[in-house]
Amino acid sequence: MARPTPHYPLFDRLFRHSMAVDLGTANTLIYTDNGGIVLNEPSVVAFQKESAAGQKRVAAVGTEARQLLGRAPSNVEAVRPMRHGVIANFSAAEQMIRQFVDMARPRPLFSRRAAFTLCVPAGATQVERRAIKEAAVAAGAWKVSLIGESLASAVGAGLPVSEATGSMVIDIGGGTTEVGVISLGGLAYSGSIRVGGDSFDMAIVSYVRNLYGVLLGEQTAEHVKKGIGSAVRDVPVEHMNATGRSVDDGLPRTVQLSNHDIADAIEGPLRQVIGAVKRALETTPAELVTDIAHSGIVLTGGGALLGNLGRRLTNELGLDVHVANEPLTCAVRGAGAAAAAGLLNDSAYE
Ligand SMILES: Nc1ncnc2c1ncn2[C@@H]1O[C@H](COP(=O)(O)OP(=O)(O)OP(=O)(O)O)[C@@H](O)[C@H]1O
Ligand SMILES: [Mg+2]
Repeated sequence: MARPTPHYPLFDRLFRHSMAVDLGTANTLIYTDNGGIVLNEPSVVAFQKESAAGQKRVAAVGTEARQLLGRAPSNVEAVRPMRHGVIANFSAAEQMIRQFVDMARPRPLFSRRAAFTLCVPAGATQVERRAIKEAAVAAGAWKVSLIGESLASAVGAGLPVSEATGSMVIDIGGGTTEVGVISLGGLAYSGSIRVGGDSFDMAIVSYVRNLYGVLLGEQTAEHVKKGIGSAVRDVPVEHMNATGRSVDDGLPRTVQLSNHDIADAIEGPLRQVIGAVKRALETTPAELVTDIAHSGIVLTGGGALLGNLGRRLTNELGLDVHVANEPLTCAVRGAGAAAAAGLLNDSAYE
């Protein structure tokens, strides 16, 4: 177990710096004490195939690479190296991190190598944790500490993590949902399921294919989810058009989707999220559940922005549920703050 690097002020200022890195399935963020959030980009990297032998060069990373997903020319390949919060493609992940760290590096002369505090899902296996550490070291980190994503998110959401009171945070990312109960600077409960925003997008794709015979791209599905997505059905109807390919004749076709369609489409994965929270409440010691009943539950991660999610969870659980400020940046801000100020106990890091 390694705590984040101790600080030796003069030496640190000259030669060292530390970065908090949230290497997410959908987005990568980097935070530094001095600069705040210095990088916030989609976790996508595009490679140009250079020779017949299959050599590859990074052609684009982040936002630029995301625009190539599903529409790259034949000699370019756009890849999402992370799935469910862990590395699915090691060499792509390593190259992506290297590019991002270069983009974020504040002082090129002295600070080539940084100490990283990296967020990982609670459900990551030892092999997956080692892979993330190795990719970070290969990308230039001289030291890597891992911190659970829900702990980091709780700190970033401003929950009273060091106090002797239970706080619950639900972080819904692109690839995972993490449920954590925090007390006295450590995790009293943590659970992780491999269901998140990507699952909602895929559920929308299959719903529209089954009901309307139109195949949407995943990015189109995500766009509709962000536009009119709702976790409940009892809301005034809203519509949005989405264009895909007809499964009958392969030609482009536009369908009009409603927020009620989206609520129906995502009901399956949403039930899995609700199930994970119920399991967490059942397993958490009674005193901590009493604290949570008083303080409510905080939602973080991009999935927290799904329309009416707080209301749906409140209905299902009978507890107050609210969305954190800036839910997409809670994990990285929290990891940075925890590492700098020692807000968490030793067991929070590995
Ligand atoms: N307004 C919105 N409504 C619904 N979902 C949204 C909204 N904004 C963002 N999202 C979803 O949030 C997800 C990205 O969230 P986030 O950046 O927290 O994930 P991540 O940290 O990269 O993933 P993970 O933590 O699972 O590795 C995407 O699936 C995105 O579609
Ligand atoms: Mg995340």
